[in-house]
Amino acid sequence: MCEQSGDNQPLPRLINLFETQRIKEQEVKFSIKNASPEKQRSACVVVGVFEPRKLTEAAEAMDKISKGYISGILKNGDMEGKAGSTLTLHNVPNAICTRVLLVGLGKEREFHDKSYRDAVRTAFKALQETGAADATLYLAEIPLKTRNIAWKISQTAIIGLESIYRSDQLKSKHSETKRPLSKITLGVTSAVGSAANEGALQQGLSIAHGMSLAKDLGNLPPNICTPTYLAQQAMSLAKTYKLKATILEEKDMEKLGMGSLLSVSRGSRQPAKLIALEYRGLAKMERPIVLVGKGVTFDTGGISLKPASEMDEMKYDMCGAASVLGTLLAIAQMRLPINVVGIIPATENMPGGNATKPGDIVTSMSGQTIEILNTDAEGRLILCDALTYAERYQPEVVIDIATLTGACVIALGHVASGLLSNDDKLAHELMQASEQSVDRAWHLPLWDDYQEQLKSNFADIANIGGRAGGTITAACFLSRFTKKYRWAHLDIAGTAWKSGKDKGATGRPVPLLTQFLIERASHEVKKAELPS
Ligand code: BES
Ligand code: MN
Ligand code: ZN
Repeated sequence: MCEQSGDNQPLPRLINLFETQRIKEQEVKFSIKNASPEKQRSACVVVGVFEPRKLTEAAEAMDKISKGYISGILKNGDMEGKAGSTLTLHNVPNAICTRVLLVGLGKEREFHDKSYRDAVRTAFKALQETGAADATLYLAEIPLKTRNIAWKISQTAIIGLESIYRSDQLKSKHSETKRPLSKITLGVTSAVGSAANEGALQQGLSIAHGMSLAKDLGNLPPNICTPTYLAQQAMSLAKTYKLKATILEEKDMEKLGMGSLLSVSRGSRQPAKLIALEYRGLAKMERPIVLVGKGVTFDTGGISLKPASEMDEMKYDMCGAASVLGTLLAIAQMRLPINVVGIIPATENMPGGNATKPGDIVTSMSGQTIEILNTDAEGRLILCDALTYAERYQPEVVIDIATLTGACVIALGHVASGLLSNDDKLAHELMQASEQSVDRAWHLPLWDDYQEQLKSNFADIANIGGRAGGTITAACFLSRFTKKYRWAHLDIAGTAWKSGKDKGATGRPVPLLTQFLIERASHEVKKAELPS
C-alpha cells in the first residue's frame, strides 16, 4: 500500500513503533528476590524512612549492619522522612551495596495508597539521577492497611516503567542518561505468597507495557500516526501475538452502510480504516468482551473548525484506540484466559472541500438517520457505526473508550474518566477495577430524561445535545446504537493525556481495562472448574 499525504509530499519515515517499543522494554529487567537488604550486592539499595526519622524494617537492617550510621545521619538533621524527600548515601560502613537510597514516606499513620505510589515514583526519579545501573527496592513490605503485597508489587512495576518512559524517538539526539537503570529487583524478606507475588509482577509489567504502547501511539505526531499507520501497527501487534486482524477499507464500509463513519473521513485525504483484532485466550466459543476505541488521528473539528490554540493536542484524539491496542498487548502477554475483540474506527476529521457540512443528514449502519449539526462532534459519529459493527461478534459486553467531550474535562478534570453504562452491574464491575488499579473513573447517570436534548426536526437524531450535560448527551447518542447488548462507555477526554510542560499521553485507561479483564478471566476459570 502506498500512502501520500494531502499535499502530495511523501509521508515521513514510518516508524515501526511496535518493534522499537519492544526493544526499549527489554532494556529494563524486573525481578523479585527473597533476601534481606544488608545482603544485597547491588548498585543501590532503596529503603523507606517515616517522618520524623523513623526507620522502616529494611532501613533498620541497614542501620544495624552499619552500626547506627543511618540513624546518626538522620539525627544530624539531614533527613526528616518527609514525603517526596530522598537522601543518597555512599560508602555506608559494612554495606556490600554501592549506595543506599533513603526515601521519605511522610508520617506513618498517614501512609496510604497514594503515599506508597508517590514514594515509589520519588525513588525511581532519584535512582535515575544517580549513576546506578541496578537497584534493589525494599518498599513493597511497608505495611498498608488497604492493600496487599501483590498490589504493591504490581504498582511498583507500573510506576517504575512509567518513570523510565521517554518519548524521544523523533529527537535527533536521543536523551541519554549516563548509565541507564536496567535492572530492578524487588526485595522481599519472606517467602510467603511468592507465586502470587511473581504473578503480580508479571501483571504489573504487562500493564506497563500496554501503557507504554498506548503512550507511544498517542505521542506520535499526526503526520505519522494516520489511520493507515494505526492499521499497520495493529497488524504488527497481531502478527507478534497471533491475533486475527481484519482491516476494513472505505469501500468495505460503504458496502456495510457505515454512512456516519464515512461522513467524518470525507473531508480528509487520508483514507479511514476500521480495524478489528481478535484475541482468543479460551479455546471454547465463549462470547467475547468487545473494546471499541475512538481513533481520530487528528480532530480539527471539520467545518465546525476548532480554535487554533492548543489544537495540536487533538493528535491525542486517538487515545481510545491506543488504549485498546495497549490492553490487547497486555492481555496477550499475560495469556489471559478470555476472548477479547478490539475494534477501532480510525479517521482524520478535516475540513476539506468534500467535508460534511453542518446540517447534512447521513444514514448510519443501524439505519438510523443523523442530522450533523456540528462536525466537531465526530467521535460519536464514528463510534456509532463501530458499535453496530460490534454486534456481529455476539459480545458478552461492549466497552467503548473515547476522548469524546470537552465537557468531561470540565466535570471531572484530569483525575477521573467518565463512566456511563446501560447496565449497572457492568458499571459496578468497572468501578471496582478502577479502584483496584487506581485508574480512576466516576459513574455518571444515563437517564432517559437526557435523551430529549438529541431531538432533530429532520432526522432520527441530532449529533449534539447543547451545552448542558455534554458528556451525558454524548453517551445518550451512543446508547441509541447499543440496545442489543450490555455496554459501558469511558470518556477519557481529561485522563488520556497531560498538557503543559509534562505534555504527553498517560496510557490510561489501560490499567482499568486490563484489571477488568483480569477479574473477568478469573471468573471464567472458576466457571470452568465447576462440575457440569
Ligand atoms: N475530541 C473532542 C473532545 C475533546 C475536547 C477532548 C477537548 C479533549 C479536549 C471531540 O471530538 C469534540 O470536539 N467534542 C465537542 C463536542 C461538541 C461539539 C458537542 C466538544 O466537547 O466540544
Ligand atoms: Mn471533535
Ligand atoms: Zn474528537
